[in-house]
Amino acid sequence: MSTLPTPRPFTVALVYGTRPEAIKMAPLVRAFTNDPRFRPMVVVTGQHREMLDQVHRVFDITPDVDLDIHAPGHTLTEITTRSLNGIGAVLQANHPDAVLVQGDTTTTFSGALAAFYEQIPVIHTEAGLRTGDASSPFPEEINRRLATQLAELHLAPTWESRANLLRDNVAEERVHVTGNTVIDALLWTVEHPFPYGSPMLEARLGGDHPVILVTAHRRESLGAPMARIGRALARIAAAHPDHLIVFPMHRNPKVREAIMPQIEGLSNIITIEPLSYGGFCRLIARSSIILTDSGGVQEEGPALGKPVLVTRDNTERPEAVHSGTVRLIGTDEDVIVDAVDELITSPAAYARMSRAV
Ligand code: UD1
Ligand code: UDP
Repeated sequence: MSTLPTPRPFTVALVYGTRPEAIKMAPLVRAFTNDPRFRPMVVVTGQHREMLDQVHRVFDITPDVDLDIHAPGHTLTEITTRSLNGIGAVLQANHPDAVLVQGDTTTTFSGALAAFYEQIPVIHTEAGLRTGDASSPFPEEINRRLATQLAELHLAPTWESRANLLRDNVAEERVHVTGNTVIDALLWTVEHPFPYGSPMLEARLGGDHPVILVTAHRRESLGAPMARIGRALARIAAAHPDHLIVFPMHRNPKVREAIMPQIEGLSNIITIEPLSYGGFCRLIARSSIILTDSGGVQEEGPALGKPVLVTRDNTERPEAVHSGTVRLIGTDEDVIVDAVDELITSPAAYARMSRAV
């Protein structure tokens, strides 16, 4: 009796380069590794360096290829051309069956374009997010639209993102609603409680002071808008000395340049280097209010029932805004102060926003 040959595993190159992509790819790396039908190949551009390595340590991932393109202060053009060159060469040499890209970074766009040039099918996860404003977030709104044009298979996190793709004339059979892998990553960390990774934080957050968690990094907010966020934080800290404001700072030096001069001498504002993912999730759980312009944190905060105030003018994640857990407040100093103040002083306003979705 003849036996059928064992099918060759389907090789998927998972191409990514920044912290949020790594976090959202990690559950997929694990799932592909544990499934004999697939052979995952992890290709990182290294668009981020320390912040990417931090995620790999948490999830115990060793990339198959690390292009190590990071250079301090690199421009969008430099990131794009170095990624495109590097990924193109890797795809030419290995010719995987598919290339998986995530989200909307410059690595995402470059990975999709490199695969398209090599005529390798592109799978896009977190597909279909849109603000409708080409300049916000910049350049992500255009990166994600370009990824849509280049992809064969679109994995949309929600029905709203699926609807956006159909409006862009993507064929219905190429779109699948999958949810967002950030939730898989978050649930994994909740099952494996992590330390903050900072003795200073362990000590200062050990008591029962309420915590306001802050992150900020959007390119369109660098400079004056970011300085307004800093001034708002200083006013909130002075008005609510019992609260601790904890701000793990993105490695982009422009964030520190804008924020630090505004918050000097305020002992209840704690600035700290980026936390590793597990420690950061624990910090979300410890917080009572989150102020952020992050995409990922807008997803994680609501999942843990935390009110999220978004320091942006628009969002590609309207679902949590509709459900009331996320509120868009922009970067006006008075508006930020008033929005945080309302959550601190009005139990009814807090209760309205703190329902888990
Ligand atoms: C990038 C993504 C953005 C995503 C964000 C997540 C693009 C265009 N933007 O923005 O969509 O929300 O990542 O954080 O792809 N830096 C370091 N070390 C690091 C990481 C960054 O020093 O580990 C510095 C870089 O040298 C650069 C600055 O931070 O000077 C900005 O990094 P960059 O990769 O250009 O974009 P982000 O603003 O991080
Ligand atoms: N994050 C982290 N450490 C930090 C700050 C954030 O691990 O100090 C995680 C956070 O939980 C989320 C992701 O980084 O999953 C968001 O990354 P970022 O805000 O840089 O990018 P965005 O989501 O806006 O693209």
